[in-house]
Amino acid sequence: MNPTMMKATSRAHPNIALIKYWGKRNNELILPFTNSLSVTLDNLETVTTVDFSSIYREDLVILNEVELLSNSTSFKIIHHIDLIWDFLMNRPRDIFVKVVSKNNFPTAAGFASSSSGIAALTYATILALHGELSWSQISLLARRGSGSACRSVYGGFVEWHAGKEHDGRDSYATKVHSEYYWPDFRMLVIVLSSQPKYISSREAMAVSVKTSPLFPSWIIRCERDIIDLKKALDLKAFSMLGKIAEENSLAMHAVMEASQPSIIYHTSETQIIISAIQSLRRTGLNCYLTSDAGSNIQIIALHKDISSILESLKQYPFIQKIITCGVGKGVEQIKEDLF
Ligand code: PMV
Repeated sequence: MNPTMMKATSRAHPNIALIKYWGKRNNELILPFTNSLSVTLDNLETVTTVDFSSIYREDLVILNEVELLSNSTSFKIIHHIDLIWDFLMNRPRDIFVKVVSKNNFPTAAGFASSSSGIAALTYATILALHGELSWSQISLLARRGSGSACRSVYGGFVEWHAGKEHDGRDSYATKVHSEYYWPDFRMLVIVLSSQPKYISSREAMAVSVKTSPLFPSWIIRCERDIIDLKKALDLKAFSMLGKIAEENSLAMHAVMEASQPSIIYHTSETQIIISAIQSLRRTGLNCYLTSDAGSNIQIIALHKDISSILESLKQYPFIQKIITCGVGKGVEQIKEDLF
């Protein structure tokens, strides 16, 4: 990169939590109640170019080829860039910025697009501003844009530490195992709908924290689940890991459903696939499910079982697409800018 230029591009992959983050103790700083643990996926990616230049007459945000004209997404992106600018520069921003970002998968539909989107945006902005930060500082800044994004900074299996401090200085992610740790680990991303979710996870979480009678027990459960899941990971005990992850995800949906008003992301198609996965297991196939805030499902499996699982899912015509992913890398700089 030319040292006088303030332009950079980065690539990040979404992550799917095996132990979910659901509920903030501080909404503004995005501080969770509990630790969460995720796997970063290969094959799905966001690439983002950020360019600060005096040639621009206004801030410009182009997401998946569409220019965002002052909507809540463009506001969120510019606000995040300003936060990073304030952190790195000792003066108010006096130059406009152009951001172009592309996902190779549906946006805001429960595929964790905010995790890769905000991680790529954070890293590209830091690089464009020639910032030199540690990975935990990068993760901490990504967290301020979207909680789950702090985990996509790293590849492999990643833990986000909730932290205890009021200002969030100890709330960032660290790597538990690298992307090379478990080469046979797979996640099948089952696309049932590509429509954006009817309520954002940010809003839905706030409703759960305030109103769900299950929320206090959810916090206790996650503390135990994280410990057990890390044990399963250390032992590469697949069935133990799958069982904990599936039950944790279904418990998160129970927390949402018990909220007032009830938040139900799962559709009848989602329920059919959940039953299908559970009955595949009874026939001896070792596979488990997890599901984020949306109607889609991810199947946790090992490489040797993928073709049998795919074969058995052929009977469900409403499945739009299945993307097989392995464990992916963390955020990285790439040389080819998007413009
Ligand atoms: O970071 P957000 O606001 O996209 O929230 C993510 C919440 C879940 O995807 C449902 C769980 C998680 O830990 O990723």
